Amino acid sequence: MDLNKETFRLLYKLKQIHPHTYAHSINVSNHSVILGKKLNLNVHDLEILQFAGLFHDIGKLKIPESILKKPGKLTDEEFEEMKKHPIYSVELLKAAGIMNVDVLKTILYHHERADGKGYPKGLQRNTIPYLSKIITVADSFDAMTSNRCYRKGLNLEQAKQELINGRGSQFDSEVVTAFLETIEEKEKKIVETVGER
Ligand SMILES: [Fe+2]
Repeated sequence: MDLNKETFRLLYKLKQIHPHTYAHSINVSNHSVILGKKLNLNVHDLEILQFAGLFHDIGKLKIPESILKKPGKLTDEEFEEMKKHPIYSVELLKAAGIMNVDVLKTILYHHERADGKGYPKGLQRNTIPYLSKIITVADSFDAMTSNRCYRKGLNLEQAKQELINGRGSQFDSEVVTAFLETIEEKEKKIVETVGER
């Protein structure tokens, strides 16, 4: 899938206004494609993951900065507004001419949880689109491991443990297993490369 002028503009706006979310979106896109390859998905699905990863949080452009950049805990009302960002992402993409249902669905459900406690719909396990489950794991991993001005990110071992803890409740178990394998393969490669020097 290609970026048209409007989607490119949205991404550029995200980079200007929320550089952390922009960088996060690129990471999520990359992690999701690697994970999709590990799960033997076809090229069509990999392209959807790549695109959905880039735009999953684009709806944050519609969330007031007072909420997005609030250093402390959000009030219930603010959190309700924050929870609308997947819906906003879909709205912005549709307005930009993106009508691919698989892309829109993948993005809309990226905050659903296996136990049904996610949002916006509270879908459970097998009712959550498979590609959304992949984005969820990639998204959470990147969010956990990145530093923010108000907190330091988890180290790799801690992040792996969080994913393991969330298996079956927050995350799809199969997707977590595949993701942990991709991390291990990457670690092994780094050790081998360093060992060769
Ligand atoms: Fe999100």
